[in-house]
Order: sequence, then C-alpha cells, then structure tokens
Amino acid sequence: MATIVTDCGNSPQLAKRLARKLRAKYSPLTISSFPDGDIYLKFNTNLKNKKLVIVQSFQPHSDMSLFDVIWAAETAKDLGAKKVTLVAPYLSYMRQDKRFNPGEAISSHIMAKLLNNSIDKIITIDPHLHRIPKLSKIFTIQNQALTANLVIADYIQHHFKNAVIIGPDWESYQWAERIANKIKVLSSVFRKTRHSSRKVTSKMIKPLEIKNKNVIIVDDIISTGHTIIEAAKKAKQHKAKSITAICVHGLFVENALKKIQRSGVKQVLCTNTIQKPQSKIDITDLIVKELKR
Ligand code: R5P
Repeated sequence: MATIVTDCGNSPQLAKRLARKLRAKYSPLTISSFPDGDIYLKFNTNLKNKKLVIVQSFQPHSDMSLFDVIWAAETAKDLGAKKVTLVAPYLSYMRQDKRFNPGEAISSHIMAKLLNNSIDKIITIDPHLHRIPKLSKIFTIQNQALTANLVIADYIQHHFKNAVIIGPDWESYQWAERIANKIKVLSSVFRKTRHSSRKVTSKMIKPLEIKNKNVIIVDDIISTGHTIIEAAKKAKQHKAKSITAICVHGLFVENALKKIQRSGVKQVLCTNTIQKPQSKIDITDLIVKELKR
C-alpha cells in the first residue's frame, strides 16, 4: 500500500524529511479559514486505498493543532484512505492528567478520546506520562511512545566534558537519570514544588558535587522556563562551571529563552519535535524506524 505524508502546518520540515527517508510522496494540505473563521481544508492528492501519515506537533496553538488533525483525518477517511497514522512528536494536553481542582477538565482524556475517534495509530515522542503510566490507558487505537533519550545522551557525550546531569523535578528522572546512566555520569533529581503555572521552587535532595562541573539540566518540556530557572539558580549557588539546559520539547513561551539566559544558563538546546533555532538534536530516524515496522 503506497504511503502519503502530509502535515497540518506545524511540522513541514519534519514531514518532508520523513517522506524522503520513507521514499513516500509528500503532499501538503491546503488549510485556511473562511471569513467567519470556519476551517477550510483540502487534500491535493488522491488518497484512495493509501496509507496516510499526518505529521503534526501540537504547538503552537494546541487547540487548533488538534482540531486540524481531526479535520484532516476525517476527510482522508472520507476520501478512501485505508489507514491514518498521526505522528505527533509533541503531544499537548498530557500534563493536565487529573482534576487538580474541583470542576476542572481532564484534558489528556478528552484529547485522546477525540483522536481515538478519527485516527488509526498515534506515534509520539516522550509524552508527559506521569499519573497516566502508559498511552494505552487513554488511547484505544494503536499507540507508540518513543523516547529521545538515546539521541540526547549521544549529543551530550559528543559535546560536553566533565558533565553532571540534573533533573529539575521528580518526573524528570525518566530523562535525567536514564541519560546519565547511559553516558556514565553522575546525576541528581531535584524536588520541585509548583505553586502555580508560573511559580515553582526546587530543592536538591540527593547531594551531587557540582562545583567546577558542566551542569546539564535535562527535562521533557521547557514551557515558561521557570522549572529550569529554579534548577539553574541552585546549580549557580553550588558554583557550577557552566549551565546548559536540554529538553525534548522546546515550547519556549512567554519569553522563556531570555529569562532562562538571564538566570545564568549558557545554552538552551532541544530536539526537533518542535522546530526551533535551538533544535540541534534530530529525532527523525526514531520515527522513520517506527513507521517502517
Ligand atoms: C512538568 O512536570 C514538566 O516536566 C516540565 O518540568 C514543565 O512542564 C516545565 O514547565 P515550565 O517551563 O513552564 O516551568
């Protein structure tokens, strides 16, 4: 069955690279809106009996990103596509995975429910699995969570000497500890208290010799940057030689990069799950391998 690769506007570079590596046709969609704001979407290739791969990271605009995918998948099925796979390198809504306060929406469940209805398979990278231990708890369709740990570990090994790794909060052990173990350097995972979406404090629980070391703070997501900033402050107090922040998904909202740099972080890097100038770590081959399975 021939494969067509498309994107919904957020991930054209990655979609083109994937198509090239899969030797599949890349066919961009036409997406615009009518004067009243209604979505207009059009496929520009024949989808009958084809496998369709939609590449869409859910940033910027998580809500429209999700909506566009549903529109595209439903249209593809209507046009005769046999299988619709969504490659969402960054999958949003995963952090609101419980009702923290009475009356709140559990967004991860709603997002998954909507996608379960429209697509056949989802592939994502390092989704924020915390209280939900695996994707199959919310997805009834085929699902695959890949991790960028090995490519990040490889990058650190080739670019840093005398490094120690810090995970800025308990959940980040999945990246910080595992990457540190892989490249055989020491690590410590901090305890973070989140007071609001823009205020966090952190504490070093497991002591780690930081003085004169190149400290690398590793996390899955950098959004407003406050988590990294708090960890960087601690690293500075302990006289780190340099501080670098590396994440899988670089959202960098509300001027995060400037604020992080002001806190003493020398360099901020991320993968290309969301394409940014800081995307020095490439995850294309991870996805190609999974799509070829
Ligand atoms: C939360 O648990 C995540 O792993 C990140 O630490 C968090 O999303 C980062 O957010 P921010 O950059 O806004 O502090």
